[in-house]
Amino acid sequence: MPDYTLAVATSADGFIARAADHTPQSWASAEEQALFFAHVNAADWAIMGRNTHLAADKADRHRIVFSTSMQGWQRATQLWLDPTQITAADLPGMVAGIRPLNSGLVLGGTRVHDWFVAANALSKVYLTIEPIHFHDGLPIFSDQKTRNPLEAFRARGYGVVREEVLNAAGTRYITLCPEHPE
Ligand SMILES: NC(=O)c1ccc[n+]([C@@H]2O[C@H](COP(=O)([O-])OP(=O)(O)OC[C@H]3O[C@@H](n4cnc5c(N)ncnc54)[C@H](OP(=O)(O)O)[C@@H]3O)[C@@H](O)[C@H]2O)c1
Repeated sequence: MPDYTLAVATSADGFIARAADHTPQSWASAEEQALFFAHVNAADWAIMGRNTHLAADKADRHRIVFSTSMQGWQRATQLWLDPTQITAADLPGMVAGIRPLNSGLVLGGTRVHDWFVAANALSKVYLTIEPIHFHDGLPIFSDQKTRNPLEAFRARGYGVVREEVLNAAGTRYITLCPEHPE
């Protein structure tokens, strides 16, 4: 299994976006964005849902895009897959001819988070909590019961290994790992 890492930014009340076209670039802190792009550049492939891909379409990026409505290589470095037909262990073999997948950066949205957590395939989570409230929007997980983003991960078996504050506004940057790795 490759090393799959999730990077997610949330509001303080546990949302990843107000709506499907509301990208973190429009509300996340400069410090979060710098870390986000460092993670993107360090990974072999990014894995995301169709809406996340389309909200920040980058033609030159190595991306695996989850969609039940379209599949196949849509660009030379972008493979669309139906996640209901595959497992996390299948992904490296499907992209190896373009670039080996040793480190995969999982970028959401909600049902992509569900999929990787259900598979217990994440080795690490970088959770950034911004000091803003959306009051409504897209949750981190489909069946999320709490508005506290850290509790949402703790409830799914992830424990904090490091926490730091990124700026004077109070942006929290938290690294979590599964308490029961696969
Ligand atoms: N704050 C953050 O860190 C963060 C993270 C991620 C996304 N976002 C933002 O959130 C918004 C998009 O999130 P989203 O939750 O609406 O969408 P998304 O996961 O990016 O896309 C949803 C679509 O992807 C496919 N899909 C994803 N997971 C699937 C699964 N497990 N099974 C089957 N199909 C699956 C489906 O496509 P089909 O309809 O084609 O089947 C589904 O309609 C964007 O604005 C994005 O910028 C923010």
